[in-house]
Amino acid sequence: MTVATYPDNNTILDIVNLKTYFYLEAGTVRAVDGVDFSLKRQQTLGLVGESGCGKSITAMSIMRLIQSPPGKIVDGQINLYTKEGEGVDLATLDPKGAKMRAIRGAEIAMVFQEPMTSLNPLYTVGRQIAESVELHQNVGRREAMERALEMLHKVQIGDPKQRLNEFPHQMSGGMRQRVMIGLALSCNPLILIADEPTTALDVTVQAQILDLMRQLQADFNSSIIIITHNLGVVSQLADHVAVMYLGKVVEYADVEEVFHHPLHPYTVGLLNSVPVFGKKSGQVLVPIKGMVPSPMSEIRGCAFAARCPRVMPICREQPPALGEVAPDHRVSCLLY
Ligand SMILES: Nc1ncnc2c1ncn2[C@@H]1O[C@H](COP(=O)(O)OP(=O)(O)OP(=O)(O)O)[C@@H](O)[C@H]1O
Ligand SMILES: [Mg+2]
Repeated sequence: MTVATYPDNNTILDIVNLKTYFYLEAGTVRAVDGVDFSLKRQQTLGLVGESGCGKSITAMSIMRLIQSPPGKIVDGQINLYTKEGEGVDLATLDPKGAKMRAIRGAEIAMVFQEPMTSLNPLYTVGRQIAESVELHQNVGRREAMERALEMLHKVQIGDPKQRLNEFPHQMSGGMRQRVMIGLALSCNPLILIADEPTTALDVTVQAQILDLMRQLQADFNSSIIIITHNLGVVSQLADHVAVMYLGKVVEYADVEEVFHHPLHPYTVGLLNSVPVFGKKSGQVLVPIKGMVPSPMSEIRGCAFAARCPRVMPICREQPPALGEVAPDHRVSCLLY
């Protein structure tokens, strides 16, 4: 276990040059290929980017839930700062060891992209929440079940006493997602990672879940990483945004900067390709041309060069590095 030095009092999680590859017979999938971002205390970070850019694998790497083989964290650091002056690099821990098991759930909890596959169909939702509380908080069965009831109440599930004894399949998608959030928050984690928590839900339920997350963040003082394709969700919830492209963070800044002064041509493209809240109603939507290259291909220069409207000859030769262009605003582009 490596002890990292504390970057500043506000940082709770600092990801440095994280690389997670999958070694397949057909070749190496560089799913996460040098991700850098940091999460500040009690803040929400939005992790955005097109499908396949490595958002979920970044989250699974932080949780140390990458199946190995074929997956492996091959480089980088995942520094978690739980208390002042001391950090632990999660990338160095044994994923099955006691330390990582204690961190999973109690320090960092995750709401997965598909709630149906992450809730156990054989147990009542009450049992599942209570079990997690028992495991992490050293309390007896009765108290754990009481805590489960309290959590269902907190995530605003109607008739929680009755629902405690139901199985996941007896609930609607929105309700299951609430249960997942309740389960994740039941041990009062420092960090909540929510992977597309609203994508499978209809628009009204989406709005309710977002409201709920906002409220819970205030109640629990957690830091949140919210993973989504939906820039509207980001604009409503996030304090900071990390934009990913093909396994890398290409831009990181606070939410105002990203929406009003985006610098990376990919971020600009993303913002122009979707309707964004607060923009003039006459906004013309322009899709980004071309396709995301395969994460198996070797790219010499910038991975976005082939699609970039502002590409320069050097972009095809030299890979850009993520550099600070203004305070708290980092971009990986040779234009800057
Ligand atoms: N178990 C695996 N084996 C091989 N490749 C994988 C595996 N899991 C993910 N990948 C690949 O890693 C890349 C990143 O996947 P990831 O799931 O992180 O994308 P994502 O950004 O979460 O996309 P989405 O928005 O669709 O959820 C993709 O190219 C994906 O095909
Ligand atoms: Mg995903």
